Amino acid sequence: MKFFIDTANLDQIRKYRDMHLVDGVTTNPSLAAKENTDFRSLIKTICDLVQAPVSAEVVSTRADEMFAEARELAAISPHVVVKLPTIPEGIKALARCVEAGIPTNMTLVFQPLQALIVAKIGATYVSPFLGRLDDIGQDSMDVLSVIREIYDNYDFQTKILAASLRHPLHVVQAARLGADVATLPPTVFDKLLDHPLTTIGLERFLADWGKMRPEA
Ligand code: G3P
Repeated sequence: MKFFIDTANLDQIRKYRDMHLVDGVTTNPSLAAKENTDFRSLIKTICDLVQAPVSAEVVSTRADEMFAEARELAAISPHVVVKLPTIPEGIKALARCVEAGIPTNMTLVFQPLQALIVAKIGATYVSPFLGRLDDIGQDSMDVLSVIREIYDNYDFQTKILAASLRHPLHVVQAARLGADVATLPPTVFDKLLDHPLTTIGLERFLADWGKMRPEA
């Protein structure tokens, strides 16, 4: 499973890239707004930094305008993946992007039928928002598992990008169910390698090592 980082913050991207954990980046308008800088320049910098897929989302809501934005975003770098909302106008824009050879990430997906539709049209990635489903008391992993089943039934090539992950268990569950990618916010990255028994174990090893008195 690939790990993408769900942030537009350059320091965070550098931090986890230096640990060899970043296979790509996802952003959305909320994350980009936090950086308070020119969006297109930021996306270009991120692409140059990671040299891997970087999702950049359109903010128009009409298909024609979405497609125009998609073309502008795709021109920034060959690493750009255009994120489109899974609404009827977004589906129309998706079809045009597919025809134009622009990689896409269909976002705000909450049910298997949405995932089936975008795969039929040829999306590159589908992003089910798992944490937001759990937030409203729906088992997100059921949704992920049905999407995986449908995609396998028809050998769809659309990659399942598990998004809106809130904790390490989400990552494990998504991996068990065969998500192709998990996009993790920095807070979840921090927790991935944090196990108290590892910390305590290392402290003990080093303390014992410090007590060693080599024979003269
Ligand atoms: O990648 C989608 C993600 O940014 C949404 O996460 O935590 O806002 O539901 P969240």
